[in-house]
Amino acid sequence: MRDSRETSLVNAFVTGWPIKHSRSPLIHNHWLKQLGISGQYQREAVPEADFSTFLDMLRDGRSGYIGGNVTIPHKEAAFALADRPDTLSRELGAANTLWVEDGLIHATNTDGYGFKANLDERGPGWDDARRAVVLGAGGASRAVIQALRDRGFEEIHVINRTVSRAEELARVFGETVKPSGLSNLSQAMAGAGLFVNTTSLGMDGGETLAIDFSPLAPDAVVTDIVYAPLKTPLLAEAEAQGFRIVDGLGMLLHQAVPGFEKWFGQRPVVDQALRDLVI
Ligand code: ATR
Repeated sequence: MRDSRETSLVNAFVTGWPIKHSRSPLIHNHWLKQLGISGQYQREAVPEADFSTFLDMLRDGRSGYIGGNVTIPHKEAAFALADRPDTLSRELGAANTLWVEDGLIHATNTDGYGFKANLDERGPGWDDARRAVVLGAGGASRAVIQALRDRGFEEIHVINRTVSRAEELARVFGETVKPSGLSNLSQAMAGAGLFVNTTSLGMDGGETLAIDFSPLAPDAVVTDIVYAPLKTPLLAEAEAQGFRIVDGLGMLLHQAVPGFEKWFGQRPVVDQALRDLVI
């Protein structure tokens, strides 16, 4: 079996539909340049109907790629069609990182890793807490819950506008997850050491929720997976109320690290130059 890393050029992709707004090429091409690797990372616009064929060409080497990232709307199909999905992607039912080994497509999901690495860097001690509040119950919420459970959180209150979606997450992740609706937010926050927004609220100047953070533990960390704007109205409010805040940019940057290392063989760093470039 030919290891394509032995050839001079290793290529990786990000695929989605649409894909032109993805910031992943900025991130990976910054690292390729910084590390002096002669690879390429490029966008592949693939409609849903063509995704399975795209993976066939990846698997048999015709595409010329060693792997890549997958984003909306292909994350679930990437998981379902991969030959070797790992336990992280299996639990989430979605994959964002693929690589080919011996003619088989391996899949993982690095969102939970990115979430943890961002908080480790910017909110040290965040995982000393045992009780967390997670706002939202979509795909991003699943990755966050997975990360929190991994770090030993014992009570994860998942609050969602549509309560049935939060209840579904309690079925997936077990009794550590306590589901409820927005009317229970204040009660769920009582004494919690971590608050995570996983909804799109506050993104790009869109609508937000006015939240009273005062029930949280005094040393609580408040974080948002939205990174545009960097300081969302929710984070600004939490900061004004005296809480430590961590923005979502680092999650985007750190989730890219494991894939880059897999494809290109070197572990890249998330530095200030990268932050300045991406934001
Ligand atoms: P993702 O995969 O990014 O998490 P998603 O599956 O579309 O995206 O989930 C979006 C989340 O934001 C959901 O929790 C959604 O709440 P519902 O399940 O009730 O739809 C939440 N959300 C989006 N807009 C909202 C709003 N205006 N108010 C409250 N929650 C909102």
